[in-house]
Amino acid sequence: MDILTTIHQFAGYVIALVVLASATAAFGRAHDAREFTAGPYVAAAVLLDVQVTLGLVIYGVGGYWDHASPLLRYVHPLLAVLALVAAHVGVRRGRAQRMAAEAHQAAGRGLLVALVLVFGAVMASTVGVRGLI
Ligand code: HEM
Repeated sequence: MDILTTIHQFAGYVIALVVLASATAAFGRAHDAREFTAGPYVAAAVLLDVQVTLGLVIYGVGGYWDHASPLLRYVHPLLAVLALVAAHVGVRRGRAQRMAAEAHQAAGRGLLVALVLVFGAVMASTVGVRGLI
């Protein structure tokens, strides 16, 4: 269990960076009107899927619904799941566009929202784990 928690912790920071890089790339590609391929954005969304699944396992096995901090009990999981939804909605909206620039922009907007939510989730867990709130 400790090893899963350590992986989840480190992966959390890496994923925040990957989502940041993907969102930045999306707006750069939109600016250059590069041909739209969803692959890089899907990769970021799938990483979020894996991280959320891992978090659910840690939460369930560790009985975190009884944790003293509401930030870990509710806020961290909720923000993480919303981040996952935002990333997938962005990819789906991107695929639905016919113009390449708009497709990249739609994916980028979803990833930007996901980034803010991931940042919030990381902050909530950092504060919650240490029992500050
Ligand atoms: C966007 C997805 C997620 C990210 C980026 C993320 C990130 C993190 C990080 C960075 C930590 C370590 C905090 C610290 O030790 O300072 C953490 C801890 C934790 N996360 Fe997540 N998490 C995500 C999703 C989830 C989900 C969906 C759940 C549960 C449903 C979850 C449950 C937990 C739990 C229980 C801990 C505390 C583990 C401990 O006792 O050290 N996480 N998360």
